[in-house]
Amino acid sequence: MRERSFVMLKPDAVKRRLIGDVLNRFERRGLKVVATKMMVINKELAEKHYAEHAEKPFFKDLVDYITSGPVLAMVIEGGECISLIRKMVGATNPKEADMGTIRGDYAIETGRNMIHASDSTESAVREISLFFKDSEICNYILPDEEIIY
Ligand code: PPS
Repeated sequence: MRERSFVMLKPDAVKRRLIGDVLNRFERRGLKVVATKMMVINKELAEKHYAEHAEKPFFKDLVDYITSGPVLAMVIEGGECISLIRKMVGATNPKEADMGTIRGDYAIETGRNMIHASDSTESAVREISLFFKDSEICNYILPDEEIIY
């Protein structure tokens, strides 16, 4: 089933010049990047995006971190890509993330864990609509899609 996921490279990933490495992993896997936007998130958008965690003790740190520099927000498309991308991203705490996952290979601290990816279809729909208008998402066919799917 073809799905779309919202993925965001957090400020530490951008500042460490890891955009290319991470996008390369998704593209090599056969996933399709259909929208990207580099931006500095304001507090209001950060609080909306992470609204379900508003009562958690780490909420202020999370909002401070995600608004501390540019992020690369994107929409990625592919067969059952929501769970696949979560697997590629690895555990929230990078110390527990498997080697070979993005967090397991590049990160150490939960408070600097590089990347966000939607955890369900409902989250993906909500998060994509917070960051992108429909007209900013591209529909296109890759030449090798029929080999991959
Ligand atoms: S929970 O309590 O299990 O629902 O929370 P969890 O899924 O572990 O984390 C929710 C998001 O908060 C981020 N997080 C943090 N950011 C900064 N500092 C600290 N201490 C911290 N703890 C958790 C975590 O990475 C999740 O964000 P995303 O963007 O989804 O990874």
